[in-house]
Amino acid sequence: MSSHETTGDTLDSPSETDTTTVPDIESTPSSGAERGGEWWRTAVIYQVYPRSFADADGDGVGDLPGITSRLHALADLGVDAVWLSPFYTSPQHDAGYDVADYVDVDPLFGTLDDFDALRARATELGLRLIVDLVPNHTSSEHAWFRAAVAAAPGSAERARYMFRDGTGPSGDLPPNNWQSVFGGPAWTRLVEPDGRPGQWYLHLFDTSQPDLDWTNPLVRSDFVDVLRFWLDRGVDGFRVDVAHGMIKADGLPDYTPPADAGSMGGGETADATPPYWAQDGVHEIYREWHQVLAEYPGDRVMVAEAWVEPLSKLAKWVRPDEMQQAFNFAYLETGWSATAIRRVVDQSIETFSSVGAPSTWVLSNHDVVRHASRLALTAENPQGHGIGPKSAGLPIPELGLARARAASAVMLALPGSAYLYQGEELGLPEAVDLPDESRQDPTWFRTDGERYGRDGCRVPIPWESGAPAFGFSATGASWLPQPEDWSTYARDEQQGVAGSTLELYRSALALRAEHELGAAHLTWVDGYDESVVAFRTGGVTVVANTGEVAVELPVGDVLLSTMALDGPALPPNAAVWLAAVDDVG
Ligand code: NOJ
Repeated sequence: MSSHETTGDTLDSPSETDTTTVPDIESTPSSGAERGGEWWRTAVIYQVYPRSFADADGDGVGDLPGITSRLHALADLGVDAVWLSPFYTSPQHDAGYDVADYVDVDPLFGTLDDFDALRARATELGLRLIVDLVPNHTSSEHAWFRAAVAAAPGSAERARYMFRDGTGPSGDLPPNNWQSVFGGPAWTRLVEPDGRPGQWYLHLFDTSQPDLDWTNPLVRSDFVDVLRFWLDRGVDGFRVDVAHGMIKADGLPDYTPPADAGSMGGGETADATPPYWAQDGVHEIYREWHQVLAEYPGDRVMVAEAWVEPLSKLAKWVRPDEMQQAFNFAYLETGWSATAIRRVVDQSIETFSSVGAPSTWVLSNHDVVRHASRLALTAENPQGHGIGPKSAGLPIPELGLARARAASAVMLALPGSAYLYQGEELGLPEAVDLPDESRQDPTWFRTDGERYGRDGCRVPIPWESGAPAFGFSATGASWLPQPEDWSTYARDEQQGVAGSTLELYRSALALRAEHELGAAHLTWVDGYDESVVAFRTGGVTVVANTGEVAVELPVGDVLLSTMALDGPALPPNAAVWLAAVDDVG
């Protein structure tokens, strides 16, 4: 047991804290067990980004055998499931989110046999396994797109994608004004097989990621086959990429989003929804997929990556006949403010439970600045822009880490399901000082370096401080350079070390399971200053201090603390879990 888990230290309470239920909200409707083993309602799911987790063949890019060899570390951490970002055949122009074959493994990552071995090892360790599904677009190297390019305008092959004639007298202007998420126009003009400039195709992301036309029944049936392929191979579910983007408004009308719209989504105004996001037609697709998953035993799950606001709109993705979960990006985008945290927690629990779904919670992933840096940024940083050496408002590392530990302690006590991103359990910050020539995110190239993009959160993670590439790869190779000071974050430096971030996460996950916090009912604790988040759940009282002065703590054994405590006072940027008063003695 680590020192921060100082069970038995009863603090002297300065005053009795008033614990009233404000507001009286329900947590997730019931625990997994009560609902016939719907494990995902309360699960903690760990995102593995295969390129950067563990590299078995020494080429500098992580792979499936590498993941299999390190999977025990995740079981040891105490998570319930693993989500694998794409490992499919891909030219890797968008780190694998450009899929050239949905039912094979890219040689960079291994083989289908390696996948089966990973699946088997996960089962042995009691871990569920979710894979990524990328249905909005394929790679331009997919056989479907190659056939479409080779075929004539108006052909069945082209009808799988969003091909349109250009505008202007000679068709040399794009069909509309849409911009790519990664910067620049969302249309590219083809050179037709006869060498003449021809039709344009839509790509909401990189040029190498043509959007499929989801009104085409062939596209729908092909993806049902893809789902079945992986379900038959034993996956427990899918994380669905760009789940708000697959259907576009009829006529593809021009649209100019407000300047502050995030890159992956948003852009709504009071009276308009972007014609490429959150169109009603997407729900039909998920209803069909829901039925497919329901044919399989064992509670398979779909989680939507849908950057949709507000939460009440996002709740449509998790209606009972659609997906089971949706990432709660409203939570991820909430700053280090107790008022804002209380508000988003209330809204999330209330909104998701209104459709019978669990809320999810997430603080980091492969598309956002790691929360150990993000929570201490002092300048606006829209999602996807990333940070680099010349960014304004760069974080103070110690402050970022303190807030991240406290934020994670709050998140892991909330009812519902939580997502972790590899490396956050080590307290990894964003890698800010990556040399320009090492950057690989298409965002960096498509904005001529104006936006750094997402490489800083994708750097291979450190395992052993003294090993080449900190244990990521035996040869020392690493597709993005690892900052030298990452030796101090290495897993072996933290394992069993009292107060380390790794031990903090391990303790939190163990306590979360012991107290069944994923299925518990949350009630706010009153009587604190605006800058304090305080709630009771499953026999635990959680207090987090987002302010600038220490706050008094109520009586209770300290189960977990993100900072060393000196008496009954909680320092700024810290959080604590206490055994609730009425559970003591
Ligand atoms: C969302 C993924 O998380 C991101 O990494 C990717 O670039 C886009 N979708 C496009 O697939």
